[in-house]
Amino acid sequence: MKGIVLAGGSGTRLYPLTKVTSKQLLSVYDKPMVYYPISVLMLAGVRDILVISTPDSLPSLRNLLGDGSQLGLNFSYAEQDQPRGIAEALIIGADHIDGGPTALILGDNIFHGAGFPKLLRDAREQLTGCTLFGYPVSDPERYGIGETDGDGALVSIEEKPLRPRSDNAITGLYFYDSDAVEIARGLEPSARGELEITDVNKHYLKNGRARLFRLGRGFTWLDAGTHDSLLSASQYVQVIEKRQGIRVACLEEIALRMGYITADACHKIGAQMKNSEYGQYLMQIAQSLE
Ligand code: G1P
Repeated sequence: MKGIVLAGGSGTRLYPLTKVTSKQLLSVYDKPMVYYPISVLMLAGVRDILVISTPDSLPSLRNLLGDGSQLGLNFSYAEQDQPRGIAEALIIGADHIDGGPTALILGDNIFHGAGFPKLLRDAREQLTGCTLFGYPVSDPERYGIGETDGDGALVSIEEKPLRPRSDNAITGLYFYDSDAVEIARGLEPSARGELEITDVNKHYLKNGRARLFRLGRGFTWLDAGTHDSLLSASQYVQVIEKRQGIRVACLEEIALRMGYITADACHKIGAQMKNSEYGQYLMQIAQSLE
């Protein structure tokens, strides 16, 4: 399975913060926002990751992440020169996807919760058609919304409905089989001129091939697209990390625990940033797992 992180958009809701930098490079407490979606793909066992962003932001993302070899991953990069919608990521990424399944994640989505790695692995193993991840929210009109029947099966999906039929938001993590690229290519732009990911999902649903995994109580899903949600995300990560002494979305730690890099390699990365608590954490984790 190949991965795509869509880190595009002009981030205008975060102006002036994002006037000269990409939203996905802003800090969420102790690390850049884009680390969080990358950590999700890593936990799903995805190692080939295409990062899609605007021509302005792509060089900075590339400087930050490199070719991925430091993490035992393979990062590649592609431009989305206009905000033409999330589904365009599947078309831009067609060569990278190369006829196989894909995990697409939005660059401002933060997922955290016990049991998440297993849930991701299960979702990946059981993938036929498309798998979506739902999460209850208090402001459903801001999201894609999935309505389910009594058995939990998905019956409708609507993008930002004025009168939501449920509070079940479709999060920005999507697992697709090999049909997704062709489905995206066949879409018409929506009223706002975008290729909507919700239309890809509706296509799968119409053919009875869309499934929803519910992320419920005890799980955290945040997006960081406004000033308040960005601050809330930072505060959330700060509280968890201070309380437990365990870091959320620490890519080097995940790479180490997944067996992609050695303890020695992790320690070296930590030593390169030993003045930061993040670097010190890497050295400590490496020593404890040696
Ligand atoms: C997008 C999707 C929406 C989804 C949301 C998750 O909305 O269109 O269906 O619920 O991401 O973050 P956007 O944030 O681009 O408005």
